[in-house]
Parts: sequence; C-alpha cells; structure tokens
Amino acid sequence: MAIVSHVAISAGQSSVRIKDLRRSFAGQTVIDGVDLEIRKGEFVALLGRSGSGKSTILRAVAGLDADARGSGHIEIPERHSVLFQDSRLLPWANVIDNVTLGIYDAGVYDRAKAALQEVELSGKENVWPKTLSGGEQQRVALARSLVRTPDLLLADEPFSALDALTRIRMQRLLLKLCQRLQPAVLFVTHDVEEALRLADRVVIIANGRISYDESISGVRSSPIRFETARDDILERLGVPKSGSPVQPKEL
Ligand SMILES: Nc1ncnc2c1ncn2[C@@H]1O[C@H](COP(=O)(O)OP(=O)(O)OP(=O)(O)O)[C@@H](O)[C@H]1O
Ligand SMILES: [Mg+2]
Repeated sequence: MAIVSHVAISAGQSSVRIKDLRRSFAGQTVIDGVDLEIRKGEFVALLGRSGSGKSTILRAVAGLDADARGSGHIEIPERHSVLFQDSRLLPWANVIDNVTLGIYDAGVYDRAKAALQEVELSGKENVWPKTLSGGEQQRVALARSLVRTPDLLLADEPFSALDALTRIRMQRLLLKLCQRLQPAVLFVTHDVEEALRLADRVVIIANGRISYDESISGVRSSPIRFETARDDILERLGVPKSGSPVQPKEL
C-alpha cells in the first residue's frame, strides 16, 4: 500500500503539486523521486519510453494505485477526472447514463446533453455503447469527463487506439474544450507529435525521474521549430532522425 498524503485542493485553485513521488512494484523501483507542479490551465504532456512509469505516475496522481508501494506528497483539485485508452463505458447503461454516472444534481441531464453536443454526439443519448464506434465511445468518455467540469484532467494515451483521422479530430476537440474550461491537464502519450500539437509543456520521465521539462508553446508558430523540437525530443527518447534506435544518452 502506498504511503502518500493525497490532498484535495478545493475547486478553483486548480493546480497540481507532486513532491518526491516514489513507487515500486515487487521491490523494483519505478518512480524514484518525481517533483511536478502544473498550473491552472496548463497542458502538460508526459512522455517516456514504454515501461518508464508514465501510467504509474498518472495512477498515483489519480489515487488509483493501491497495489503500489511508495511515498510522496500529492495535491490535486477535488474536481478531477481521468481518461483512459479505452472508454471504460458501462455496457449495460445507455450513453446519457454513462455520461451522468454518479452525478445526481438537478441540472446534470441538461449538462450531459450539452456535453454530448460538444463532442458531436447529439441524438445518441439513448443508444448502447456497443453500437458505437471506438472513436464515438471515446467521445462519450470525453463528454463524461467534461460534464464534471474538472479542474484537472488526467489522460493516459486516450487517443492511441483511434485511427489517424479520428485522432486528429479528437485532439482538436480536446484543445477547444481545454481552452474553454481551462483545466490543468496531465496527458500521457508516447506520440511526440501529439504532445507538440497539444501541450504547453513537455515532461520526459526516464530512470524513474524527470529528465526533461520544457515549455514548448512556441513550437507551433513555425514548422521548422516544430520539427526541431520533435527531433530533439525523439532523440531524448532514443529514436534518432534516421529511425534506427540508438543507445539513448542520459535520459
Ligand atoms: N501493478 C503492477 N504490478 C507490477 N509491476 C507494475 C505494475 N504496474 C506497473 N508495473 C511496472 O512498472 C513499470 C512502469 O509501468 P508503467 O505502466 O507505468 O509504464 P508506462 O510508461 O506507462 O509504459 P507504456 O508506455 O508501455 O504504457 C513497468 O516495468 C511495469 O511492468
Ligand atoms: Mg502506460
């Protein structure tokens, strides 16, 4: 069981503070002292090689890692929601019931309808999840997150199972919604271009620690800056320009 102080910050303050996070599984250290702060409205992409501990960090922040051992201090806003790679919709509940799941206030139905409209799924309120495509199911999951108007959105490769076109649509939709709602975002991805398209800041985790933490908001202003940043980050992840894997230098 992880020994962690997990503090919920009241709505509105909306920032994340992680101090000296450590996690291990079966005696194997995975996260070895991570400090991370995310401001309100800031979109942080978390990158790292497979097995580097991205999901472990996200689960720790979400408080979903009772199976891990470790320590650290985590402060997150009370209103937060999590998006996973699969939509995790309840198969026995229709779309609107999936979106409103666990919320019982009087206005929730109208908010859910509005959220479904935002993800372009108006008219699908009463259908079963299994009748939707993968992209549509993921949009329902996004609506389910949004209806909670989270101060923090945690996402673990939410678009990686989608086809390229649906993925681009989802990225644009997410950006639009984040600009409007201004949550803090911690977005795990293995896709460098996705990180550069969406994030204000890129963080790389390697050997259990943060090895890179840079603001990248300027890179979208020019294709050359975008390419340079992409190649730099790919190299840090052990993928050189030529495409053949190299021994990564100090990650
Ligand atoms: N519940 C668990 N029990 C045992 N080991 C675990 C558990 N969860 C994660 N690990 C181990 O911790 C390491 C980091 O896993 P994690 O899922 O955080 O990696 P990741 O960076 O998200 O990788 P990927 O990009 O492949 O999703 C891996 O070696 C993994 O095997
Ligand atoms: Mg993962």
